Amino acid sequence: MNYRHAFHAGNFADVFKHIILARCLEHLKAKPTPFRVIDTHAGIGRYDLSGVRAERTGEWRAGIGRLLEASLPDGIKALIQPYLDAIQATRAVHGPNFYPGSPEIARFLTRGEDRLILTEKHPEDRATLARNMAFDGRAKIIEIDAWVGLNAFVPPKERRGLVLIDPPFEEPEEFDHLLNSFSQAYRKWPTGIYALWYPLKDLSAVANFTWSLRDVQIPKMLKIEFRTKSPTRVPSLFGCGMIVINPPWRLSEELSLILPVLSDLLALDEGAGWSCEWLTESVVASF
Ligand SMILES: C[S@@+](CC[C@H](N)C(=O)[O-])C[C@H]1O[C@@H](n2cnc3c(N)ncnc32)[C@H](O)[C@@H]1O
Repeated sequence: MNYRHAFHAGNFADVFKHIILARCLEHLKAKPTPFRVIDTHAGIGRYDLSGVRAERTGEWRAGIGRLLEASLPDGIKALIQPYLDAIQATRAVHGPNFYPGSPEIARFLTRGEDRLILTEKHPEDRATLARNMAFDGRAKIIEIDAWVGLNAFVPPKERRGLVLIDPPFEEPEEFDHLLNSFSQAYRKWPTGIYALWYPLKDLSAVANFTWSLRDVQIPKMLKIEFRTKSPTRVPSLFGCGMIVINPPWRLSEELSLILPVLSDLLALDEGAGWSCEWLTESVVASF
């Protein structure tokens, strides 16, 4: 396990993923009944963008750095405001260079009666996460391999909620693990919202993954992709995607407004673009 998210925090992939996470949480809060967030690959919770690791890659500059400097149309700003509020809240407490990871965003955007399960396999990162979340009794932090653990945590007793699966994709088998682990969890809890992140790097692996997902026969499955540049001959990350199972009503509509603006803002070359399509229904939009 070499991957450390501190090198990549706040990059374009985090911005894309965290905006979707925040929109899903906002929709879950539309009902008063409590829900649970299960973040299977939690990382350390928050990141210092002026730290050695983040500065070594500087990836955040082309992600959250650009977004925070942009002047956004009012309608888009309103849609991503909960995410911006989470960043602001983290900075207010920890300093102006901090960036919230998915656990911190989920913590900020949930209510007193909602609960969080945060799993992380790296012992050092799990310990940092536990320290970062220590004051919040709603969050349970567990050091476990997500591919083993997820099955044990579903369905949650609230019977409402979201599972974020955000693996580092260091290993070639990661797509298989994702498919198997998600399919098992889905069978036990078919009404949960699941957000599955994946890299756009090896397109044949992505195609196999999405085709295999169709075989699981899920009625509501939204595939969202976001590219900042053209694919290169030597495989490198040129974009990323998120499959949202049981997406909240209006999520696809909202993303079709947000993503064109975000894509223009974070574009690195003319290959930048986005798409949002139902894997089981008709295409919503793409560019
Ligand atoms: C992409 S990062 C997570 C970022 C985080 N979700 C966020 O948005 O802030 C992936 C994390 O998964 C952890 N990890 C890798 N393999 C894992 C596994 N099998 N089970 C649980 N955690 C794992 C890594 O240590 C790393 O912290």
